[in-house]
Amino acid sequence: MTEQAWTPTSWRNHPAGQQPDWPDPGAFDAVVKHLSTLPPLVFAGEARSLREQLAQVARGQAFLLQAGDCAESFEAFRADAIRDKLKVILQMAVVLTYSAGVPVVKVGRIAGQFAKPRSSASESVDGVELPAFRGHIVNDIAFTAAARTPDPSRLEQAYHQSASTLNLLRAFTKGGFADLAQVHQWNQDFVRASPEGDRYEGIANEIERALRFMHACGIDGANQPGLHEVDFYTSHEALILGYEEALTRRDSLTGDFYDTSAHMVWVGERTRELDGAHIEFLSGIRNPIGAKIGPTATATDVVALCDRLDPDREPGRLTLITRMGSERVADLLPPLLEAVDASGHLPVWACDPMHGNTFTTADGHKTRRFDDIEAEIAGFFAAHRSVGTWPGGVHVELTGDAVTECLGGADDISAADLPERYETMCDPRLNGRQSLDLAFRVGELLH
Ligand code: PEP
Ligand code: CO
Repeated sequence: MTEQAWTPTSWRNHPAGQQPDWPDPGAFDAVVKHLSTLPPLVFAGEARSLREQLAQVARGQAFLLQAGDCAESFEAFRADAIRDKLKVILQMAVVLTYSAGVPVVKVGRIAGQFAKPRSSASESVDGVELPAFRGHIVNDIAFTAAARTPDPSRLEQAYHQSASTLNLLRAFTKGGFADLAQVHQWNQDFVRASPEGDRYEGIANEIERALRFMHACGIDGANQPGLHEVDFYTSHEALILGYEEALTRRDSLTGDFYDTSAHMVWVGERTRELDGAHIEFLSGIRNPIGAKIGPTATATDVVALCDRLDPDREPGRLTLITRMGSERVADLLPPLLEAVDASGHLPVWACDPMHGNTFTTADGHKTRRFDDIEAEIAGFFAAHRSVGTWPGGVHVELTGDAVTECLGGADDISAADLPERYETMCDPRLNGRQSLDLAFRVGELLH
């Protein structure tokens, strides 16, 4: 293919995997056209701030916490669920900030995380074959022909739900809800109620002492906005390229193109072919971008991906999110770290300990073991330590709700507990308490 200049539509000249089969392509085009007239969801300047903060992560001066839903739902769309998800992420961030001793950059998988890549385009039940569920931005999960038919009007609903979610997140994070003293108080409550409380008390008490010391020195939320408000960014997998194209706008300040659907977008493990449409699209937007890196990626693949997505070798531009599986991370990750380091690129390296550790139980529940999740993170830290690179962050699927989707954690959820509150539409998420368990365990690894 001859090199053509990048435009928000140039992805259309490349093979695009994982796109729905819209029954009426004209209706899809009309929705994309309409979306392109609607206001941006985020501003270019905010995406630039995130890029600068991620540059700090790349240089080993900050840590990334990227967390949120596997797939947001049009039905489970409630203020309290958004608040509780944010609350858990803020709580985790306080533990990680203290343990890592560096700022934690907080990025939600939220306000746009609707589209799901699928291993098969269709699903068969009792001899009936229907299109696979691809997330609420495309179709519905019920196994009927009507529900599974891709409906482009869902793109507009996703846009509007993202806008209201962002509005609430902005209010919560700038309106006092994120006050450090309050978040610490929630953590104290968690530690008191946890079966592993004794184990976590050490870190919690140290944070308590640090806060008292700061208070005694006259530093508190009343006079320090940094203790009272947080910067919280949004992200999702840029999967449905028509949607992303519609929200890509030229920044009036710099003349550069930004995808204003989120501060950061990433390309998934299934759509990261170098000459594919997703990589073409991401290569031209100036947002910070991510790429999932699974066990099949070779060192050559990853360096080529860096060259394509970050030709200027700009720290903060590219986050490589590795998801190898707890058993393979020790073998597979070091050669990638060495090769990228030798190439002169300085990406953020983040560990997704979820997607390489999924399995299905005998009774058909897709799940993950807390211990495997923790082990992959430990392996990720060890690999970086051995190579001399910075383990920049973690990327997890979670909810604030008390769901029973992943096994283990301090409350020791068993396979028999899974049906009790199994609510995910796609992958199993850590519940609120498991998420905090994980933050304290990662805190121990960092401390
Ligand atoms: C995801 O993050 O939900 C996902 C599908 O991940 P991956 O592309 O790594 O499989
Ligand atoms: Co997932």
